[in-house]
This record gives sequence, C-alpha cells and structure tokens, in this order.
Amino acid sequence: MTAIPFKENTVIVVFGASGDLARKKTFPALFGLFREGYLSDTTRIIGYARTKMTVEEFHSRIKEHFDIRDGSQDLVGRFLDMCTYESAQYDQPEGYKKLTVGIEEFEASRCVDRPHRLFYLALPPAVFIPVAERVRKYCHPGKNGVARLIVEKPFGRDLATARELQEKLAPLWKEDELFRIDHYLGKEMVKNLIPLRFANSFLHACWNNQYISSIQIEFKEPFGTEGRGGYFDNIGIIRDVIQNHLLQVLTLLAMERPISGDAESIRNEKVHLLRAIKPLNKENVLVGQYARSEDGKKPGYLDDKTVQPGSKCITYAALTLEICNERWESVPVILRAGKALNEGKVEIRVQFKETKNGIFSHVSRNELVIRVQPNEAMYMKMNTKIPGVSNRMVVSDLDLTYSQRYNKFYIPQAYESLIRDALNDNHSNFVRDDELDISWSLFTPLLEYLEGPDGPDPVPYPYGSRGPPQLNDYLAKNGYVYQ
Ligand code: NDP
Ligand code: BG6
Repeated sequence: MTAIPFKENTVIVVFGASGDLARKKTFPALFGLFREGYLSDTTRIIGYARTKMTVEEFHSRIKEHFDIRDGSQDLVGRFLDMCTYESAQYDQPEGYKKLTVGIEEFEASRCVDRPHRLFYLALPPAVFIPVAERVRKYCHPGKNGVARLIVEKPFGRDLATARELQEKLAPLWKEDELFRIDHYLGKEMVKNLIPLRFANSFLHACWNNQYISSIQIEFKEPFGTEGRGGYFDNIGIIRDVIQNHLLQVLTLLAMERPISGDAESIRNEKVHLLRAIKPLNKENVLVGQYARSEDGKKPGYLDDKTVQPGSKCITYAALTLEICNERWESVPVILRAGKALNEGKVEIRVQFKETKNGIFSHVSRNELVIRVQPNEAMYMKMNTKIPGVSNRMVVSDLDLTYSQRYNKFYIPQAYESLIRDALNDNHSNFVRDDELDISWSLFTPLLEYLEGPDGPDPVPYPYGSRGPPQLNDYLAKNGYVYQ
C-alpha cells in the first residue's frame, strides 16, 4: 500500500489535552516538529478535554515543557496560534459533533478536498474505547479523506484484557489507521538497531550463539513512584516497562533480517522472533520493591500514601528469556528494570564469548554496549596491548559517543519522531496487534504467578541502590560474566 503523508492543512486533535502526557510529551513534541520545520504552519491542532479552560490558559499550560532553543522564541507564538482548545465530554455526541463542525469549517476555508485528520488519544484506558468509538462515528472523514488514531499504552493489563480491547477496537479502526505508541521505538539508539545490525557485515557475522554469550537490556530510574503510586500499584514494573519497552527493544536486537525495509516486513520479523521465545521460567525471576534509602531521606514504596498498605507491588524485576531458534538457542537474554535505583540509564549489553586462542591467558570478553539514554553512545570493549614497551593487555573502548561525534545533529525526542512517522504513514515504529498478543501471551502466566497466592515476596532494596542485593548472583547464574 502506498503511504499517504499528511502535509498541508492537516488537523490534529489531542484528546485528554489537559493531562500529563499531553502537557509533558505530546504538545512539546508537536512544537519540536514545528520548530524543526517538520510540521507545516497550515496545521490546525485542537486540544479536547473536559476541563474548562480558556485558550490562553491552555496555551500557557502546554508551552511549559517546550524546548525553546536559541532563535526559536518567536516560533512559540506562531505555533500557539495553530492550537485551539475545546472543552467537552467524552461520553456524549455533542462535543464530537461540534468538533467536526469546527474541523470542516477549517477545511472548507482552506479548500481541502481530501481531509487528513490525526486523532491522538492521550487518555486513561477507561475512556479509551468510548472515545475511539465516538471519534470514528462523528469525526472520521469517511471515504473522502484519511484518518489516523494514535493510542497510548497500556494496551490491556494481561492477555484477556488486551484481546478484549483489540476486539472492541478492530471493528472501528482498521489496523492501518491505528498507531500504537511504544515510545521506546522512537528513541534514537533503538531506531539505530536495524542499521547497526544489518548494515555492518562484521557485526552481522558474529551476531549469533557461536560468538555471543549473553544479552542484557537494562532500564534504571533514579526516582520512585513519587506522585504516581496509585497508578503504579496496579501495574508494577513488568507491565510498566518490561512487557512493552524492553521487549520491543529485544525484538529489534534479535530478529532476522526483514525481506525489505517496509513496516510490515519489519513487524513480521519482530513477530517471528516473539514466537520463538520460550514460555518464561517462573522460577528464574528476581523481584524487588524499594525500601527507604539508607540515609533515611528517601521514602520507601510503602511510604507512598497512594499505595495499598502492605502492597507486594514489584518495583524491580530481572528475568531471563530463552529464544528458541538457530541463531539464539542457549544465549540467555536478561531483561531487568527498576525504579528508585542509583542512576537513570537504559542500556543494551551484548557480551561475547571468551576468545578461544590459547596464547592469551587472561583476556576479557568483548562487550558491545549500546546506551539508549542518557547521552546516547555505543562502545565496544576491546582487548589491546598497553601502548609502549609493555606487553600487558588492557580493555579499551572503541567509542562512539554521540555528543562527541554528532554534536551538530539534532536528535528528536521519541514522541517527535513517532508523531512524524504517524503523519508520514510509517508504521515501522508502532506496535502491531499480533506483536501485542504474543507479548501478553508470554507475560500473562508469569504475572499471574507473581501476583497470585504462591508469588514470591519482593526483596526489599534501599532507594538509591543498584537493586536487590541478589542481583550479581542472579546475573552470574544467568550467564553474565563480570570482568
Ligand atoms: P491523565 O491521568 O493525566 O489523563 C489525561 C486526561 O484524561 C486528564 O487530563 C483528564 O482530562 C482525562 N481523564 C482522566 N481521568 C479520567 C477519567 N477517569 N475519565 C475520563 N477522563 C479522564 O493521564 P496521562 O496524561 O498521564 O496519560 C494518558 C495516557 O497515556 C494513559 O493511557 C497513560 O497510561 C499513557 N502514558 C502516559 C505517560 C506519561 O508520561 N504521563 C507515559 C506513557 C503513556 P479532563 O478531565 O480534562 O477530560
Ligand atoms: C513509561 C512508564 O512508559 O516510561 C514510566 O510508564 C517510565 O513509568 C517511562 O518512567 C520511562 O520513559 P523514558 O522515556 O523516560 O525512559
């Protein structure tokens, strides 16, 4: 199917425009696209939510998080002129009808004969289907135009609810109209995985179980659930980060080469890879919950008043996947994520096997590290001789740190990159329905066990630490060699 890019006179409607995501991510991303010249000034952006606010109040709310760079101050006013606000209900037709009247007036004033409308649901899951239904019914331009719907996680909380959501959504919105955001797919280093793997023959040649001994994908946040405890208590770190963000990263890291670069070929390979993952071993999971920091200054998870007293919610998890295919059989893949840790970092670590050559007795393993954030970088730990007269070996880094090598390039925020993809009708970096189904099939039995009566008590770890004290043993047991 030929892509239909949205260019001039596009209408973008953000539902839930009064909310946190809209304020911190969606509108700043739209501004970023405008600032960089990727969003036409003929675009009409409409915020829609129940909260009553004037347009001025709405503008001052959304501009709070804009990244205003040197010389872009005047662009803020021009961008805000493109943005209006509608206050209306989600469950009644009037608001949607009024919205459509406004959209049609705008399109008529610009002599648009083929409307292009992008609807962004920055809403909690409870209102997700009712809004998707009414947008389809009252705001879709029908055959005369093109409409797209961007939706946000969570896409269900287990296999049954994800399927239920999909069954309700599928009759309303076709799969090619739907853009399910996993914002990790918009991060620069994640987008670089396909070029890295398939455009470098030296890496391609050793990207398998003959040479690689283990893979880790690690997510660390230096803050707890501050202010979001109520939301998080029902979710836990596995649903919040591992089942979606880290698993998506893994699919790109481990899939076979797609037959072409189009979205469906890429997503087909991601699905093949997901299908090859063995059911998760419940016995081989390390789970934790953060406690008060050692100096007593930072609260423990259970100190959060919005959390259920005595909650066993998991704020740290490390688990190991096995991929049952020719390339990856016997290579452990550790996914680990935690809140309230000693640092904020997302990293991929590919550790290679020991060199078999007997002339060096104590050389370290090669390791390719891809730092997704902060400070994007890619470095390969290599063994080299100490320069000079010494014959001793040291580990050195073959280092591609983006801030040094690419400091003149603008790296867009994940949301900018993804909204741009949606405008361009590029689905490559969005999650397809079957990917979602398989990922929930994998994680649901594990979650049922962890949250059921036989589930383990999460191990306490101090706020600001590396995670549960058993972490090093867990990594060693699962094939990672500290060196
Ligand atoms: P909010 O809780 O801020 O909700 C967004 C807006 O939806 C609110 O401003 C409110 O607008 C309306 N709303 C809230 N609760 C209800 C309700 N029970 N019934 C009807 N309307 C309601 O959510 P976020 O903005 O944080 O997140 C939106 C979506 O994006 C969620 O699905 C979330 O999981 C996802 N997400 C959020 C991220 C973030 O950084 N915040 C990150 C990744 C995903 P009003 O009352 O004015 O109509
Ligand atoms: C969100 C999670 O999806 O991703 C949050 O709900 C988490 O809990 C966030 O903090 C992390 O995103 P980023 O882009 O800051 O790494």
